[in-house]
Amino acid sequence: MALEFLVIVVSYLLGSVSFSVLLAKLLKGIDIRQYGSGNAGATNTLRVLGKGPAITVLLLDVLKGIAAVWLGTWIGGWGTWVAVICGVAAIIGHNWPIYFHFRGGKGIATTIGVMATLCFWPALIAGAIAIACICITRYVSLGSLIFVVLTPVILLLTDFTQPVLWTSITIALFAFWRHRTNIVKIFEGRENKIGSKAKGGD
Ligand code: G3P
Repeated sequence: MALEFLVIVVSYLLGSVSFSVLLAKLLKGIDIRQYGSGNAGATNTLRVLGKGPAITVLLLDVLKGIAAVWLGTWIGGWGTWVAVICGVAAIIGHNWPIYFHFRGGKGIATTIGVMATLCFWPALIAGAIAIACICITRYVSLGSLIFVVLTPVILLLTDFTQPVLWTSITIALFAFWRHRTNIVKIFEGRENKIGSKAKGGD
């Protein structure tokens, strides 16, 4: 039990490493949370720092999710509660990082890593539809929300274990909470479109 608790804490600490904050500080000496949408994530890194840093942040944030689930799987076994809780802990760390005054990102890249490790095919299908949505609307936030909604729906239609299903639902709730300002902006037509100049923080 102590070991399970330890890997969950380590997953949270791993998730708390905010690569967009670190890279923006390293490359430009700025706090990314004061620029663009104000979010500490890959999309805002794209707006503020450009493509290369954004891809780097995206990959590293995805890796955090993969690593956390692997850590939990190593201790508890595949698809077990400890494996999925480690994934959720990494997302919580990303959203509310202990090292950065609990002001982090919206957790989508880390969610992709977690869900792709827990249920590859449902995550891939949801991801493909989400990317299509982003290409059509140019709203990354909308694509992100579609991804988190579709993953549990596809899981329900296919094969799933209870821990993985409940994790995907929990993650979707986190994502909606973190995107609440984006949702309002989409309805008001003020949401930033990928490739356009940012309209201000949230
Ligand atoms: O993953 C974050 C994305 O869905 C929205 O980011 O910066 O446009 O609020 P942002």
